[in-house]
Amino acid sequence: MIDLDGLAEAECLPLRDWTPARERMLQEVLEGLQRTEKSIPSKLLYDARGSELFERICELDEYYLTRTELAIMEDHAPEMAAQLGPGCLLIEYGSGSGRKTRLLLDQLEDPCAYVPIDISREALRQSAETLALLYPTLPVLPVCADYTGRYEIPKTETDALRRVVYFPGSTIGNFTPEEALEFLKHVTEVGGPGGGLLVGVDLEKDRARLEAAYDDASGVTAAFELNVLARINREFGADFRPERFDYESRYNDLMRRIEMYLVSRRTQQVRIDGVEIPFECGERIQTEYAYKYNLETFARLAELVGLQVERVWKDREDLFSVQYLTWE
Ligand code: AVI
Repeated sequence: MIDLDGLAEAECLPLRDWTPARERMLQEVLEGLQRTEKSIPSKLLYDARGSELFERICELDEYYLTRTELAIMEDHAPEMAAQLGPGCLLIEYGSGSGRKTRLLLDQLEDPCAYVPIDISREALRQSAETLALLYPTLPVLPVCADYTGRYEIPKTETDALRRVVYFPGSTIGNFTPEEALEFLKHVTEVGGPGGGLLVGVDLEKDRARLEAAYDDASGVTAAFELNVLARINREFGADFRPERFDYESRYNDLMRRIEMYLVSRRTQQVRIDGVEIPFECGERIQTEYAYKYNLETFARLAELVGLQVERVWKDREDLFSVQYLTWE
């Protein structure tokens, strides 16, 4: 693999922008905070600071997910590339640091283009520009959008033999099972007939390991989750005081999910766009879920919307899986 140190600044890549309007986002925030069980859409966690903090989470000792998935990619990328086949259009949801993508791109035979889709404009621009420099013959066509929403896949010069969506990181676990079904249906529409999905899926494991991964000793995860309040202040003129909230998370083993909350440290009022939101002492805002699957439950979920699991790659400890699914 090419060493990234010393790369020159890339030229600006044209970026297709389908980001949801501010008004719609504000409506979603208000709706979530006016429910009896308050919530904030987790996609808001990823502003520039949030993306930076998330990259730091990925480096934490407790957060086994990233390094385990990376090791699976290192060990099996040639088999994965063979499974995807030649001439595919690789669509990636979420841009991240691009390390896993590079492992895949290094092995793919004649990919027709690479389309990263991410709501976080700066993170997307940076990773797309780096990849365009590293793979000068590969058309890199970034799209700034909420990948669960509306956007168009850019036209490519040569026709793809197959569209494959790459969705690493176990971000699929951040959807509820109902949302995951919607999402998988959406993937089959974006991928079209005969398409594929290469997806990272975190697996069920002991509570202690899971809880440590989502509440690290150095407090990076707490800073990441609390940062969403500063973002809502900045973008929607709210007056949250983040120091008046604590981060809490726990594994709900009945639901097979980590639940993440911001908990009000006192009775307080917050104003957002002229709307008063009251908080009782101890009241929670749910920011994220992270569902954990086993191979059977994930395969069954996917089958409900017509996807078949073709291959599964795992690490030796069975912590994490990368799975390739297809549909007709
Ligand atoms: C992006 N996603 C897969 C992370 C996860 O593991 O659910 C988000 C995260 N939130 C806190 N730590 C990590």
